[in-house]
Amino acid sequence: MSLIPIILAAGQGTRMRSALPKVLHPLAGKPLLQHVIDACCASGVTRAVIVYGHGGEQVQQAVHADASMQLDWALQAEQKGTGHAVAQGMATVADDDTVLVAYGDVPLVRSQTLEALAQGLEGSALCVLTTMVTDPSGYGRIVRDAQGRVTAIVEEKDADAPTRLIREINTGFIAARGADLKRWLARLSPQNAQGEYYLTDCVGLAVAEGLPVSTVACADALEVEGVNNRLQLARLEREAQRRQVERLMLEGVTVADPARLDARGSVSTGQDVFLDVNVVLTGHVVLGNRVTVGPGCVLTDVEIGDDCHIHAHSVLDGARLGAGCHVGPFARLRPDTVLEETARVGNFVEIKKARIGRGSKVNHLSYIGDTEMGTGVNIGAGTITCNYDGVNKHLTRIGDRVFIGSCSQLVAPVTVEEDAVIGAGSTITRTAPAGRLTLARARQVTINDWQRPVKEKK
Ligand code: UD1
Ligand code: CA
Repeated sequence: MSLIPIILAAGQGTRMRSALPKVLHPLAGKPLLQHVIDACCASGVTRAVIVYGHGGEQVQQAVHADASMQLDWALQAEQKGTGHAVAQGMATVADDDTVLVAYGDVPLVRSQTLEALAQGLEGSALCVLTTMVTDPSGYGRIVRDAQGRVTAIVEEKDADAPTRLIREINTGFIAARGADLKRWLARLSPQNAQGEYYLTDCVGLAVAEGLPVSTVACADALEVEGVNNRLQLARLEREAQRRQVERLMLEGVTVADPARLDARGSVSTGQDVFLDVNVVLTGHVVLGNRVTVGPGCVLTDVEIGDDCHIHAHSVLDGARLGAGCHVGPFARLRPDTVLEETARVGNFVEIKKARIGRGSKVNHLSYIGDTEMGTGVNIGAGTITCNYDGVNKHLTRIGDRVFIGSCSQLVAPVTVEEDAVIGAGSTITRTAPAGRLTLARARQVTINDWQRPVKEKK
């Protein structure tokens, strides 16, 4: 016997008004459905079933599970209600398995809550996750008898006026054993206001059989809120961000304004990191001790060593920085950039697929691409590596302690050997030898008998 989540993800999500299947809309950088899969994974589940319909293959392509969890897919070709949807996912469920019904559009559910729901099944035949809301409209109401025992879940559209006043609602998440669920699902009928097979009718069936129904209360209504439109999506995005930023702060990060930091991936940080306002972290971000990130920076898939300072409005993507580097303001590091320790990259500099050696400086207005640079190099303002001949990319090699004068072009493939100095404004097309001054520009001339033209009189 095992615990098997059945995740419902077949609905079209009409109210999203989107070409993208609802469960694939991103929240905190990953699809809604992926959050639910990850929560199942975190609760130690080894197999989950996803009931899919709309956007079939696209949904299957867009999500994945860790190696520790197997994903099975069950097609619900036509959406005939939540009970019908769960029935489609039951094919591989054994009688003594415990089923946990979850939802692909309820992204903030926590693994602890799923575990609590499964535990709540001990001593009962059906356990329902409920929550209290101030406005219960649209939800199924939890109906209890005088002893407080659950007798039914009544959908809004089927509810009378007194029932509609009940503020304890059905989150939709339930736990039940395979054999019971199969029996109840087979007996569902669509004789209700929506003409659907309601999963919630299982409660009434269990009660009719004299079986105990239990509930687990979820204290945080946002955790079990589903996404039906983009307003709800935005609200849950804020909540997801709030959770992550709180975690970061508790781990030792100073955040200038918790409402103005967005993390859309995994972030791990050392101690005493400072993140200024409007920083966006995406993908896999690792920040060492005492790293500071200035306002408006966007960091994607980067590893930044201790004591680095990323100044305002810099964009780093796929870069690795050793300790003590300075970057920006207004710098752009593109994929496969490596800055070795204490390197400096200044304003309006773009670097792509290049290694900048220890202590080397590219401080102003330069493009460095496809380059291997040694240590202690100084690149003057406006230097360009001409790495592309229109067809192929070529490598530029710059040795240790080279000095490149401002506004030079290095036409790759080309090598500037160690300790070489390039005069400002040079176009270098051949090897510049070690330790020498190389210049490649027209000599300056002055025309002594030249006269300024004057305006012709008519
Ligand atoms: C359902 C519950 C209601 C609960 C509410 C919580 C039922 C009958 N009602 O109502 O008690 O308060 O959720 O949000 O269960 N889905 C499918 N296939 C279907 C139908 C639905 O995959 O045939 C999926 C939808 O994509 C959605 C989820 O199940 O993610 C819930 O379906 P929805 O129609 O939104 O249920 P509600 O009417 O909101
Ligand atoms: Ca419905």
